[in-house]
Amino acid sequence: MADAALVDWATLETDGLAGLHAADDEPALRAWNTRFFGDKGLVKAAMGGIAKVPKESRAAFGQEANRVKVALETEYAARLDSAREAALVAGLTADPLDVTLPGRPRPRGVLHPATQILRQIYAICADMGFQVYRSREVESDEFNFELLNMPEHHPARDMWDTFFTETPGQILRTHTSPGQIHVMREMAPNPVRVILPGMCYRNEAISTRSEIQFLQVEGLVIGEGVTMADLKGTLTAFARRMFGPDRQVRIRSSYFPFTEPSIEVDIDWPKEDPNRDRLTKGTGWLEILGAGMVHPTVLRNGGYDPDKVTGFAFGMGPQRMLMLKAAIDDIRLFWGNDVRFLAQF
Ligand code: PHE
Repeated sequence: MADAALVDWATLETDGLAGLHAADDEPALRAWNTRFFGDKGLVKAAMGGIAKVPKESRAAFGQEANRVKVALETEYAARLDSAREAALVAGLTADPLDVTLPGRPRPRGVLHPATQILRQIYAICADMGFQVYRSREVESDEFNFELLNMPEHHPARDMWDTFFTETPGQILRTHTSPGQIHVMREMAPNPVRVILPGMCYRNEAISTRSEIQFLQVEGLVIGEGVTMADLKGTLTAFARRMFGPDRQVRIRSSYFPFTEPSIEVDIDWPKEDPNRDRLTKGTGWLEILGAGMVHPTVLRNGGYDPDKVTGFAFGMGPQRMLMLKAAIDDIRLFWGNDVRFLAQF
C-alpha cells in the first residue's frame, strides 16, 4: 500500500475544505474550483494515481476518491450560494431600493405636427361638407400644366420649378391642382365639393421658407350658381376656425392660369402677438393661400359645361399655416426628425 499513499485523499479533503472556507466571494470560489476540479486540477491529478494502486486496493481507492469529490463539490456549491446571496444583500444595502417611489413615466409618442395640422384641416372642411380625395404624386405634364390652361411654353409654367422623371412627360407634381382634373373627370356632370391633400415637389433652393417637398391642400367646389361670394364665405369661415374667431380676411387680386378671377387671401395677425411684425414683415397681414373661380377652359377640360356650372378652387400650405400658428421659423424642421422639435406638439 506504500504507493497508494502517493495520493492522500484525506489531506486533499482537508486542504480543499480549508481553501473553500478561505474563499469568501464568487471569483475566489471559482478560482478554487479551477485549482481542484479543473482539467489540470488536483483532483484529476490524484485520480491519475490509480495506475499505481495494486489491483486489489483499487475499489477502496475509488470509493475514497468518490467520497472526497462529493464532499468537496457539495461544500463548493453551498459556499457559492451563500457568496452570491451575500453579494446581493451587500448591493441592496449599498443602494437601497425604495419600493414607495412612483414608477418612471413612459414617454408617449405624438402624431407628427404635419399630420396634426392636416387632421385639423380635414375636421374643419368636413364640417363644411367637403370630402377628402386623393390624387397621384407622379403626374403627367398634361395634368400638371396643360389641362390647367398652361400649354407648352406658357410663361406661367415658370411659377413652378419642376422635377422631371426619366420618363418623358412624367413629372413630380408641383401643386395639388392637377387633382382638380382627376376629380372633375370622375364626377362630371355632378356637383363637387372636395379637398385634395398631398405632397408636392418643387425644384427650388431649400431655405427656411421653402422646401423641395411640402404639403398642399387643394379645395374644389363645382355646381350651379357657385360664386365668388361662396369662395369668400368658405375661406373666411375656414380662417376663423383655424386661426381664431376674430381674424379678418383680406382678399387681393392675383394671377393663376387655371382660375379667373384669381385671388390671394391674407389674414390679419393678432396685434398682441410679439412675433407679429416679423411674421407679417411689418404689414400686419399674412398670406395663407391662393384661390379663384375655376377657369372655363379648365371646367371644359374636366368635362363640365361652363355655361351651366361654375366653381371655385383654392390651394393652401398646411405647413405654412402651422408655422404661423406655432411661430415655427424654419420649414426644414418638419422633415428634420429632431425629436426635441416634434415632441413639442
Ligand atoms: N396651385 C396653386 C399653387 O400651387 C394654388 C392655387 C390652387 C391657386 C387653386 C388657385 C386655385 O400656387
